[in-house]
Order: sequence, then C-alpha cells, then structure tokens
Amino acid sequence: MSKSNVLAGLSLLAAVAVVASGAAIAQDAIAKRKEVMKAVGGATKTGSQMVKGELPFEADKAKASMDTIASAWGEFAKLYPKGTETGGETTAAPKIWETFEDFDTKGKRMAADAAKASAAAAQGLEPFKAAFGEVTKSCKSCHDDYRVKKN
Ligand code: HEC
Repeated sequence: MSKSNVLAGLSLLAAVAVVASGAAIAQDAIAKRKEVMKAVGGATKTGSQMVKGELPFEADKAKASMDTIASAWGEFAKLYPKGTETGGETTAAPKIWETFEDFDTKGKRMAADAAKASAAAAQGLEPFKAAFGEVTKSCKSCHDDYRVKKN
C-alpha cells in the first residue's frame, strides 16, 4: 500500500469514529434529559403528595423538592443539540427545534414558579399549595406543546 493510501485509510477511519461518537453523544443527551425530567417528576410527586395530605407537610422537604425543579432547567435546556430529535425513545416533539425560544421561555417559567414555591414552603402548607399549583401548570403548558403523547 502506498503512503497516500494509508493516509486516506486513516482519515476515513477517523471520519467513521467522529460519526459514531456523534451518535453516542446524541443517545447520551436523550438519556440524560429523561433522567433530569424523572428527577423533576419525582420532586413534583413529593410536592403533590404533601398538598393532598398523603405525606405530612415538611417545609424543608417541600423546599428541597422545589429547589430540584428550579435548578433542573439550566441543565435540561442544554440537552437538545441537533441530532437528538429522534431515537432513544424520546418523547420530545419536533417543535422544540422549531421554536426553541418559546420552549426555553416555558422552561424558565417552570424554574421561576418552582423558586417561588420553594420560598413559600417556609410560610406553611397553604401558601405552598397555591405556589405549587402554578408549578404544575407550567409542566402542562410545556408538555402540551412540546411532548409527543405516547399511548
Ligand atoms: C419547557 C418544557 C418542559 C417543562 C416546563 C416540563 N417538562 Fe417534563 N418533559 C419535557 C420534554 C421535552 C420531555 C421529553 C424528554 C425526552 O423524552 O427526550 C419531558 C418528559 C417528562 C417526563 C418523562 C421522563 C422520562 O422518563 O422519559 C416526566 C415525568 C416529566 N417530563 C415531568 C415534568 C414535570 C412534573 C414538570 C413540571 C414540574 C415538567 N415535566 C415540566 C418538557 C418539559
């Protein structure tokens, strides 16, 4: 094999490796954003059980749950690079990549509502209930537009 053929072969290998790692990164981003949303879901469940009286209201625990939600958006918003529109059993709707700014606005609203609920927790169950209601509305307002419903 001539030297130039060897070089061409090597650069082809390198190109294949780049494509393969791109796919792996896409799968990672999808898995990671599902994980972040699962944590948000778990924290919301804790809040909702306290509001319904299924769990005793504990201000610290309520605050910690809302802090989990409030801090999730910063990371979550970064997990939508191009190439992650499909695969990995994602339920992210294609619209995210069309109107990302609106998607981001809705996410920031969730974070702001959760920060308010976190502060309200120290004032007792009733103020927490009201603030928590806004948090759950923000979930729905995003999922309605940006999440594909699966049966
Ligand atoms: C700004 C948009 C947005 C907001 C706000 C939002 N979500 Fe999500 N959520 C998504 C998207 C997009 C997915 C799908 C992610 C994927 O499959 O790639 C998702 C997925 C989920 C999942 C499924 C995770 C899994 O196992 O695949 C749960 C649970 C969830 N969200 C709960 C919540 C709760 C609870 C709230 C409110 C506190 C909330 N979400 C707020 C966009 C949002």
